[in-house]
Amino acid sequence: MATTANRQWCLARRPVGLVKESDFEWREGPVPVPRPGYALVRNHHLSLGPTDRQLLREEDTWLPAQRLGQVVRGVTVGTVVQSKNDSLPEGTQVMGVFGWQDFAVTDCTADFFMKLPDETQVPSTMHLGLFGPVGIAAYFGVIDIARPSAGEVMVVSAAGGATGSLVGQIAKLRGCRVVGITGSDEKCRWITEELGFDAAINYKDGDLVWVQAETTGFHWPDEPNPADPASLRHVVMDVFRIEGDRLVEHWDVIQQIPPFTASGNDMI
Ligand SMILES: NC(=O)c1ccc[n+]([C@@H]2O[C@H](COP(=O)([O-])OP(=O)(O)OC[C@H]3O[C@@H](n4cnc5c(N)ncnc54)[C@H](OP(=O)(O)O)[C@@H]3O)[C@@H](O)[C@H]2O)c1
Repeated sequence: MATTANRQWCLARRPVGLVKESDFEWREGPVPVPRPGYALVRNHHLSLGPTDRQLLREEDTWLPAQRLGQVVRGVTVGTVVQSKNDSLPEGTQVMGVFGWQDFAVTDCTADFFMKLPDETQVPSTMHLGLFGPVGIAAYFGVIDIARPSAGEVMVVSAAGGATGSLVGQIAKLRGCRVVGITGSDEKCRWITEELGFDAAINYKDGDLVWVQAETTGFHWPDEPNPADPASLRHVVMDVFRIEGDRLVEHWDVIQQIPPFTASGNDMI
């Protein structure tokens, strides 16, 4: 990592669909000098996930929308390398929305700022995963929102991802039968053989109607046509309990979801 320049990625334009490199602009500027009350943080790890796609939108999210030309927002962990703030001595490990850049200044008051425990207790990178938003979303998503009972079947989408892989493991601890959906055989093996999921489905191999039959014992009155929106409607309405659902990160594909109009019972 450079020490004489602050390398930054700035938001050049709002991405349309999938994010492209041309949506960002590379800049190099001087390393900021902290004012009294502030400390200089050198970022060493940046979190990147679906939530970051949301933060690029024009609309406010859990943070006000960022302006074009600004350093791209992003949660990082880093080390205080220069300090004019007594509560942040040099060497302190911190987490915050310090952005896609080498260095940032902080006075500890910004949203999401946290002083981290000693690196020997918990590696600081864990605060971007298991002990950070991902772990919190997985834990409270299962325990407080889904509230599964022992013996229930929990189907986890994006089960090979950071959040889904934890969700499945927590649900197993709750006594559920856990089925994970992933996009490759390798991920299927990983979640079953290493993480303890009971079954895994590679959604690129088959159709998800299989999930319904295999996990719930529900049988179709007639042979279902998986491509028919009515089949999806049956799966969603008749068999599954869905707790919490976010589609906003997937604007690029959302248009492809068929409306459920045939039944006169629109869901979207
Ligand atoms: N509310 C919160 O605080 C919070 C916190 C963490 C996460 N979340 C949400 O939980 C969901 C998963 O987040 P995550 O951090 O676990 O993400 P992740 O680790 O990046 O995993 C996402 C998974 O989605 C699948 N996927 C499907 N289509 C994809 C595409 N076009 N590009 C990339 N991956 C694709 C991939 O698995 P396959 O290859 O198997 O399809 C990937 O493993 C997101 O909706 C996120 O916003 C919410």
